[in-house]
Amino acid sequence: MAATRTFSIIKPDATRRNLTGAVTKMLEDAGLRVVASKRIQMSREQAEGFYEVHKDRPFYGELVDFMVSGPVVVQVLEGEDAVKRNRDVMGATNPADAEEGTIRKTYAESIEANSVHGSDSDENAANEIKFFFDEDEIVG
Ligand code: CMP
Repeated sequence: MAATRTFSIIKPDATRRNLTGAVTKMLEDAGLRVVASKRIQMSREQAEGFYEVHKDRPFYGELVDFMVSGPVVVQVLEGEDAVKRNRDVMGATNPADAEEGTIRKTYAESIEANSVHGSDSDENAANEIKFFFDEDEIVG
């Protein structure tokens, strides 16, 4: 199977605890290659736009507040079946439900401060990558 791409965010709870390298190592050990990466302070407008799909959910306001509470690392990951591979190594959204050995089981603090985001489909991955990266920033 050919390599595909997915989009990942290392969230403020993880950057605050200096876990960028530890999380990235788990992604790499899962067979994913970081082909683009940048540490940014997300603006409120960016966070609101990125999570627009959740805007009617009760947790939307807190989610946006959390995502702008500190730096994040946005990444493009490449690998065989990258979306699924990334979701498998991330584990369930709620760390209480995540399996042993996953990033969220190992590092997440709560369902909100859950250390990582990963795209849930190839279509969303393409849109999320475009939201943060120009094509010439991605080097495979
Ligand atoms: P993420 O993959 O970034 O996509 C939406 C985020 O909303 C999710 O991870 C969670 O961190 C966050 N979130 C906060 N509260 C909830 C909740 N009650 N249910 C689902 N997601 C939540």
